[in-house]
Amino acid sequence: MAAPLLEVQRVSKSFGKLQVINDLSFQVQRGEALGILGPNGAGKTTTFSLITGEHQVSAGRVFFQGVDVTGLRPQQRCRLGIARTYQIPRPFSGMTVFENVLVGATYGRGKSERASRAFCRDILHETGLLARADTPAGQLRLLDRKRLELARALATDPQILLLDETAGGLTEHEVHELLDVVRRIRERGVTILWIEHILHALTAIVDRLLLMDFGTKLLEGDPATVLASDELKMIYLGVD
Ligand SMILES: Nc1ncnc2c1ncn2[C@@H]1O[C@H](COP(=O)(O)OP(=O)(O)OP(=O)(O)O)[C@@H](O)[C@H]1O
Ligand SMILES: [Mg+2]
Repeated sequence: MAAPLLEVQRVSKSFGKLQVINDLSFQVQRGEALGILGPNGAGKTTTFSLITGEHQVSAGRVFFQGVDVTGLRPQQRCRLGIARTYQIPRPFSGMTVFENVLVGATYGRGKSERASRAFCRDILHETGLLARADTPAGQLRLLDRKRLELARALATDPQILLLDETAGGLTEHEVHELLDVVRRIRERGVTILWIEHILHALTAIVDRLLLMDFGTKLLEGDPATVLASDELKMIYLGVD
């Protein structure tokens, strides 16, 4: 079997005396979509930051395409093909949608603005934002801000896309529009790792689920098994 696209190997992370990730291991295969579930404070977002290099691990290693990237800076990991969105969208509000995506492309791909323009238009098309290209990012409604988060990450031309609660706060109809975009991204071969509390959105996309609590993996498997598990019921419903 080929090496996994991403491997988190026995990773731990402490902030001062607070240990938030504890000996966490999992793998993501190329082309796969893996969902991450867990209560508030479980360490999901921190796991993303350890994968992207925005935080350094306290112990353990992160491998991408079989290469140990644990010591690499965020921009180096980005150029290898790791991109993320943020739980709280962080566009440059005074810049237009197009300019925001262009920044992603020049940062993530190291290409000139000129060389990136056509590529950025394709991404705006893919994420349904082309009609908003000249709108200042600060004026977008929530769904379009979510689309822009996706577009900025896609502009770095990733192999794996880490989505952090992308569906949160959207209406049911908007969730379906977002799912259409995520499906398109997946269909062209981008591997997806998705933290999401909105279960039906997650299960519409992912092949597997990983359940976390207290910075560690409780369970990993096919969605039906994880959703029916006692571990999940304990966490979300408080029943033993
Ligand atoms: N930079 C930091 N410094 C100190 N503590 C932090 C830092 N980042 C996260 N934490 C703590 O680590 C724990 C895990 O946080 P994290 O944001 O990873 O959880 P999460 O699973 O993403 O939760 P949520 O579902 O609320 O987004 C929390 O107790 C949080 O307060
Ligand atoms: Mg989080």
